Amino acid sequence: MSDSSPSAITAELERLAAEATRKLASVDELAELDRLAGELLGKRSALAGLKTSLGALDPEDRRRVGRLLNDTRAELEAAVTAARERLAQAERRRRLEAERLDLTESLDRIPRGHVHLVSQARDRLEDVFVGMGFTIAEGPEVETDWYNFEALNIPDWHPARGSFDTLFVELGEPEQVMLRSHTSPVQIRVMESTEPPIYIVAPGRTYRADTADATHLPAFNQIEGLVVDEDITMADLAGTIDEFVKAFFGGEVTSRLRPSYFPFTEPSAEFDISTPDGGWLELGGCGMVHPNVLRNCGVDPERWQGFAFGFGIDRLAVMRYRLDDIRELVNNDVRFLSQF
Ligand code: PHE
Repeated sequence: MSDSSPSAITAELERLAAEATRKLASVDELAELDRLAGELLGKRSALAGLKTSLGALDPEDRRRVGRLLNDTRAELEAAVTAARERLAQAERRRRLEAERLDLTESLDRIPRGHVHLVSQARDRLEDVFVGMGFTIAEGPEVETDWYNFEALNIPDWHPARGSFDTLFVELGEPEQVMLRSHTSPVQIRVMESTEPPIYIVAPGRTYRADTADATHLPAFNQIEGLVVDEDITMADLAGTIDEFVKAFFGGEVTSRLRPSYFPFTEPSAEFDISTPDGGWLELGGCGMVHPNVLRNCGVDPERWQGFAFGFGIDRLAVMRYRLDDIRELVNNDVRFLSQF
């Protein structure tokens, strides 16, 4: 530089700083930044050249311009560091983007399951009965003789015990603890613990020592209904069953009661639903709660009357979907289950 007056050096410093800022802003590679940093701050840089020219200034100017030169140098060093940081961040972003794993893609390839059709049937039954004003009750699957039989008016000499093919549990006195053979024990538990009026349904697992065949499973599901209120008659029972059947199967299906026998209801009936070909299919049992059963639970039969019903949920699913074999429900063949 020919003109090395203080003002010329100062102007040159300003020009250098502005030019460096512009160049650093457009750098987009680390190697280029290294080269530029050498060019701006290295031994052969314009800045180093200006420093040499300070020697020709008088002491006063040399101090002032020298301070300015140092400030400019510090400014350029900071700008290089900032550019380096910016490039490192961009590099990190690039790497993250490149190494990103798209997990949603592999989720798509895992087949999703759905609610088993027996659970679907149970859920729908609960919805229908809740819609009719019932609440849901539950009881244990392991029961005592009192709840499964005795309180239901089935004393130990009663021939009806034979029809239940009870599975006993090795606990306490022989044949006193068992897997419940129906959901009717929940009637007793609810009446023992709740003051009438009572409107409940109790779905759940039940067990009998049956060999599995096309129409039987040793572990199956039932749903129990119990109503206890004043002035309850057989007409309320028939109306409730008909309303439930229509809500569950559709308006064109009707129901009928046939006289039958259960120790815990009197009178007792079996209820059937109509089929499209004009026939009838048996669905479950029902009747007016026997006065002995009410009394066993501390409910006064002079004031309160009730009806009860019970039927198999698995069997209902078989009827609704016209399955040939109830064992399909527990074979867990995905090709079968995925159809429902
Ligand atoms: N518990 C009876 C059974 O499993 C069904 C039933 C329930 C009958 C309630 C009458 C009243 O066979």
